[in-house]
Amino acid sequence: MERTFLMIKPDGVQRGLMGRIISRFEDKGFKLIGGKFLIPTEEQAKRHYAEHEGKVFYGELIDFITSGPVFAMVWEGDDVITLSRTLMGKTKVTEALPGTIRGDFAAHTPFNLIHGSDAPESAEREIANFFTPDELSVYEKNISVWL
Ligand code: PPS
Repeated sequence: MERTFLMIKPDGVQRGLMGRIISRFEDKGFKLIGGKFLIPTEEQAKRHYAEHEGKVFYGELIDFITSGPVFAMVWEGDDVITLSRTLMGKTKVTEALPGTIRGDFAAHTPFNLIHGSDAPESAEREIANFFTPDELSVYEKNISVWL
């Protein structure tokens, strides 16, 4: 079963979009196995975005992601990495299609509401940057019990 790291960025929290964003992943049938509301430290943010160090927007990106609370999450499911990025929509909000999270809610590119891992290796690294193994819940999702 694949895992991914998703993070609702400060703009998503401030705009009160957490519930609607999380619903997209619940509706798709993915399983939330970890969640944490926090303000990323500068060190944590720099580790998270290490691959972008040196790019023109790097400083702005670190300032943005450490500017307020984020909701960091770990989700599990078949092809959850690729499918999450499909649900999120394109990074550049001018290219994000209606029906995607960014296409429906984001209006400016740096403020694109959500981050999602782009590969299994980055997912593993990003999860470890925000969660300890004991903060992740291993459980069966069996909705028929409740219906
Ligand atoms: S690149 O250069 O193609 O790898 O960059 P890209 O994948 O488009 O974006 C990488 C992350 O940087 C964010 N971004 C920005 N932040 C601040 N300012 C500007 N101008 C900017 N441009 C891109 C973008 O949202 C990506 O963040 P994540 O969290 O990975 O979605």
